[in-house]
Amino acid sequence: MDNFEFYSPTEFVFGRERENDCGRFVKKYGGKKVLIHYGGGSAVKSGLLDRVKASLDAEGIAYVCLGGVKPNPRDTLVYEGIDLCKKEGIDFILSVGGGSCIDSAKAIAIGVPYDGDFWDFYGKGKAIEKALPVGTVLTIAAAGSEGSPSSVITKEDGMLKRGTGSDLIRPKFSILNPQLTCTLPAYQTACGATDIMAHVFERYFTNTSEVEVTDRLCEAILLTMVKEVPRVIENPDNYEARANIMWAGTVAHNDIVGVGRSQDWNSHNIEHELSGLYDVAHGAGLAVVMPAWMEFVYKHNVMRFAQMAVRIFGCQMNFENPEATALEGIYCFRRFLREIGMPINFEELGAKEEDIPVLVEKLGLGDGLTWGFVRLSSKDVAEIYMNAVRAKL
Ligand code: NZQ
Ligand code: ZN
Repeated sequence: MDNFEFYSPTEFVFGRERENDCGRFVKKYGGKKVLIHYGGGSAVKSGLLDRVKASLDAEGIAYVCLGGVKPNPRDTLVYEGIDLCKKEGIDFILSVGGGSCIDSAKAIAIGVPYDGDFWDFYGKGKAIEKALPVGTVLTIAAAGSEGSPSSVITKEDGMLKRGTGSDLIRPKFSILNPQLTCTLPAYQTACGATDIMAHVFERYFTNTSEVEVTDRLCEAILLTMVKEVPRVIENPDNYEARANIMWAGTVAHNDIVGVGRSQDWNSHNIEHELSGLYDVAHGAGLAVVMPAWMEFVYKHNVMRFAQMAVRIFGCQMNFENPEATALEGIYCFRRFLREIGMPINFEELGAKEEDIPVLVEKLGLGDGLTWGFVRLSSKDVAEIYMNAVRAKL
């Protein structure tokens, strides 16, 4: 096991109707004037926004609202949010929505105390030194941004999707009420589930051996997803299944399942070019990319992929031909994705084979290599996209 530091300071507030406590938590973390940041309307329609406002009113906390966050959140709304916060003297950002809302809230939180352009922090390696505090009321189990130090924003000009990270933008608190996820369309539920599983796989495929505790935690989350996701697709109001998925989503990405060993993240970076270019859901892009990446790299550690096949998808270990077991595991993952309603290839996602050179170019590797489980060149990435073009069951 490698040396590590694990810091997860977010206070998680879990359960039915807990959004009614958000005023209390904003107060606890020093918010006096709040920006309530939300998405395209689901939080208005469900009445959630009104409940959040009532909770702030009850604590005598002032607020202004800024809605309109789109999936793959845009820089343009971030600039608007920064201006609004400066004008209104906002000292706390409260996201009411999914990962896109949270990431936009984090970007605003970074931009308000910074004199330059907030985009300086995205994909350029500039370190974040200051941020307003952020709290979240989560409405979809997916990105894990409610407990993560990351934010991913798309620059509208050129649709360039880039991320940043710092412990300074980990939310102070996150309210997780599984009931709120019952209004999700099945497709969004499945996209979120795919993202959660991908966050675990990015950490499961490691070059550090013998980190058994982390392996087993990863497997617990993956097994939970394999069991619970079909249950919520069948019955969207299944609270217990929703609850398990919601907590799995948070634990999958606050890094407790990644400590003590190397991680990958190539599938995420390769996917971000797809959701950036085509404005598709991140989870759907991952459903297409991740098995394609697995097919490209499994020979690097056949036994690890065979372990996934046996422990997660219940395959029989073929001791004479472990490669067959590894490939069966990848097949089972792709079949699971199809069964929950995800696209599995470029065509189903709405991506085009002829755009592969553009996607590779945007990734910006040039002659260099990525980091990770297997270090990839631009040519390798193009081959992974081609695997995704050809994928079928
Ligand atoms: O905007 P509204 O109307 O709320 O609709 C949203 C949106 O259309 C809808 N939705 C959310 N909760 C709902 C609901 N509809 C009905 N009922 C509810 N309860 O779902 C759609 C998707 O929402 P979004 O916030 O985009 O989903 P998600 O949480 O999957 O976030 C995706 C974004 O997070 C980034 C992704 O790249 C993508 O931009 N990620 C952020 C990470 C991080 N910060 O740590 C890590 C991830 O790997 C990921 O990259
Ligand atoms: Zn993700």
